[in-house]
Amino acid sequence: MPELTPDDAFLTLYSDLAREGPGAAADLGWALSVAATPADARICDAGCGSGADTVTLAKERPKAQIDAIDQIAQFVAAAQKRTAPFGARVQVRQGDMAALSGPYDLIWCAGAVYFLGITEALRLWRDALAPGGAVAFSEPCLLARPSAAARAFWAEYPQITDVAGIRARVAAAGYRVLGEQMQIGAAWEAYYTPMSRRIASLRPGATGVLANALDEAEQEIARWKAAPSEIAYALMVVAPVDG
Ligand SMILES: C[S@@+](CC[C@H](N)C(=O)[O-])C[C@H]1O[C@@H](n2cnc3c(N)ncnc32)[C@H](O)[C@@H]1O
Repeated sequence: MPELTPDDAFLTLYSDLAREGPGAAADLGWALSVAATPADARICDAGCGSGADTVTLAKERPKAQIDAIDQIAQFVAAAQKRTAPFGARVQVRQGDMAALSGPYDLIWCAGAVYFLGITEALRLWRDALAPGGAVAFSEPCLLARPSAAARAFWAEYPQITDVAGIRARVAAAGYRVLGEQMQIGAAWEAYYTPMSRRIASLRPGATGVLANALDEAEQEIARWKAAPSEIAYALMVVAPVDG
């Protein structure tokens, strides 16, 4: 069999996972409420991955029209399959979330804004928002007095800041904060517990690039387990100041 590429190994690890980043269904209900997203809203799930949150959005707003977008074909196919029961009101497509057209009452972006940068993403999405529209996004966040273990967890994301820094990046884009809450513990369990099972199922016989990918994922989970009460995403609901 030909050796896998690092991209193949990544997709092998992530195939069949419930989600591709930390998150919890309850957080969507909170964000929809804070954003006052109407029943018949147009919603975008930007960087939807395999569609865990797209499904929750469709359930939370049964009359909404939902577009979901991701750049990775395998995730798009998985999200299309999961959302098929909702029919034409949920559309999943492969594309670049930097180029949304809208208009949307809510742009939801879980664990993906850091690919663009907060200020950059919010500026790019300004014209895709309907009047009164909002953006909800989750972003790595340093808590007060982070331990060495917490800093080690985030070592590969030097742009990380604390909640004040996130608010400043929001303000720099011309947005205001409607609500914020931390995602600690359960949201990360929901991501790492299925991933641990997936690693265990792939481990027998894994060699080369796949074995390396499994090692790296295991090390990431171990770093999280070293400081789970300190590893946080800030879930921010924001809206344009002039919106
Ligand atoms: C950490 S995953 C989160 C996926 C999903 N939101 C979740 O919480 O399970 C980040 C996702 O953002 C997607 N992504 C990154 N940059 C993108 C872009 N410019 N356009 C579309 N999708 C992008 C990746 O392909 C990946 O599926």
